Amino acid sequence: MNIGKAFAREIEKHVEHVLSMTEIEAMIEQPKYDEQGDIAFPCFRLAKHFKKSPVQIAEQIAAKLEHPLYEKIIAVGPYINGFLDKKSYSKQIVQQIINEKDHYGSKTIGNGQTITIDFSSPNIAKPFSMGHLRSTVIGNSLTHIAKKCGFEVVKINHLGDWGTQFGKLITAYKLWGSETSVQENPIPVLLDLYVKFHEEADENDALNQEARAWFKKLEDGDKEATALWQWFRDESLKAFSKIYDLLDVSFDSYHGEAFYNDKMDETVDVLNEKGLLTLSEGAEVVKLAELDMPPCLIRKSDGATLYATRDLTAARYRQATYHFSKAIYVVGQEQTVHFRQFFSVLEKAGYQWAKHMVHVPFGFILKDGKKMSTRKGKVVLLEDVLQEAISLAKRNIEEKNPTIENKEAVAEAVGVGAVIYHDLKNERMNHVEFSLEEMLKVEGRTGPYVQYTHARACSILRKATDFNNDVLQKYRLGDEPGLSDSYSWHVIKHLRDFPHVVQRAFDDLEPSLIARYVFELAQDFNKYYSHVKVLTNDAERTARLSLVYTVTVVLKEGLRLLGIKAPESM
Ligand code: ARG
Repeated sequence: MNIGKAFAREIEKHVEHVLSMTEIEAMIEQPKYDEQGDIAFPCFRLAKHFKKSPVQIAEQIAAKLEHPLYEKIIAVGPYINGFLDKKSYSKQIVQQIINEKDHYGSKTIGNGQTITIDFSSPNIAKPFSMGHLRSTVIGNSLTHIAKKCGFEVVKINHLGDWGTQFGKLITAYKLWGSETSVQENPIPVLLDLYVKFHEEADENDALNQEARAWFKKLEDGDKEATALWQWFRDESLKAFSKIYDLLDVSFDSYHGEAFYNDKMDETVDVLNEKGLLTLSEGAEVVKLAELDMPPCLIRKSDGATLYATRDLTAARYRQATYHFSKAIYVVGQEQTVHFRQFFSVLEKAGYQWAKHMVHVPFGFILKDGKKMSTRKGKVVLLEDVLQEAISLAKRNIEEKNPTIENKEAVAEAVGVGAVIYHDLKNERMNHVEFSLEEMLKVEGRTGPYVQYTHARACSILRKATDFNNDVLQKYRLGDEPGLSDSYSWHVIKHLRDFPHVVQRAFDDLEPSLIARYVFELAQDFNKYYSHVKVLTNDAERTARLSLVYTVTVVLKEGLRLLGIKAPESM
């Protein structure tokens, strides 16, 4: 039951012609301090109509209000404040979570509609950058959140697997490369070849000509060129897969830019038919001046198509294939103009669905306040970062809890969880300062802190050997009241908020809301645990253990939405 609605409906009876239900609901506040109750309605706006002071009005209306959910409803100055009946309310929340388990907080707003999420999308033969990490982690969390809201989700990895750079790579490989070294260490070796090509080509323009010739061959489907391209792609994907496996991320489609090669003409034709193409210095462009944007480049004078042409084509393909109701692109903020441009081109072409395409940008990863760069040889290989996080986590376990089972699996969950949480804990548009030590702290706003709290709650339940599912279900069905002390009350209020937080995280496409939520729930739970003797044998023991149980359910589910595992001991 929505406590806000119930409260607003009571108030409405007394102010019927002055304020609408929607207005009342919008005015409802949550008092800052517990002593002021759980919900409050300010009476200032009624003063004019009733020709009385807000204080008098609050007194008059409060005197007439009552509701079974509320222990009391009283005037506090110019406010009408409601105090929930804690025992019955907390029982209700706990009952609901026991009932719904990991479905608690799930929504049906998606109603089976499909959302495509384009995320991660690294470039073949290049390192998986920190930016790609952010896209992967944010995008992956958004897929979980969208599914939780009842959407079908199609996860798309729009690989950067086409472009003139492949002509350069083939040229370099044929001159200086070796099969075994690429196989052994694909990304760094291919990157080196690419860098060497540029160094040499500065001196020797013949190399550029050769690269162009190889790219032309590739475009024409030449056997050798295609086989090399395919091999670079396969080897790169193998390397990326190691990262995806560690992060537990998967995709429904790896159709990258190359996939659209034979579908580009159709896109250009459509734009042409709609009269959108203009010639500009030999190139075909769609002008967007009326929208205050530079023109969108569709085809170069040599006939080559561009990144935007591929995205336009991919969007049409995705609409035809998946009939998406929303298409999300999780890509760094430096590409904002690109997305605005190509969304606008689709709208101009008359595609109604283009209105439901959203770019979800995010900030940079910084090291000592500066943007982390993959160029200039300073490559930070992401797989190394994850492996390092895992070994640090393992060292912590060896120190603190050397006897636990599945040490490897727990270390992986904690190390990787730390990296993911560190990314998701701030609003996505903020820059993230990269620091492994910060990530792995068990104190403060970190993944391990939340995971550790979950494991602690699990261990309390393990200690209570007599508390099993039968007891839990009996408590759920019985009329034994819930808890009412202030520590459990804070936990209860957080548990109650979970469904709203899921909804907001989806509306704002903002996983950080869930990250903040699980941290605050963990904090309140730890306060509860340090002040209340959960395992004492008294009349409220089952109620307390049931509360602990619901905390494990919600923390685990919240972490899952972020893409983080919740080990039961650590
Ligand atoms: N490969 C691109 C890059 O690394 C990102 C692609 C994003 N997705 C898209 N549909 N444009 O910058």
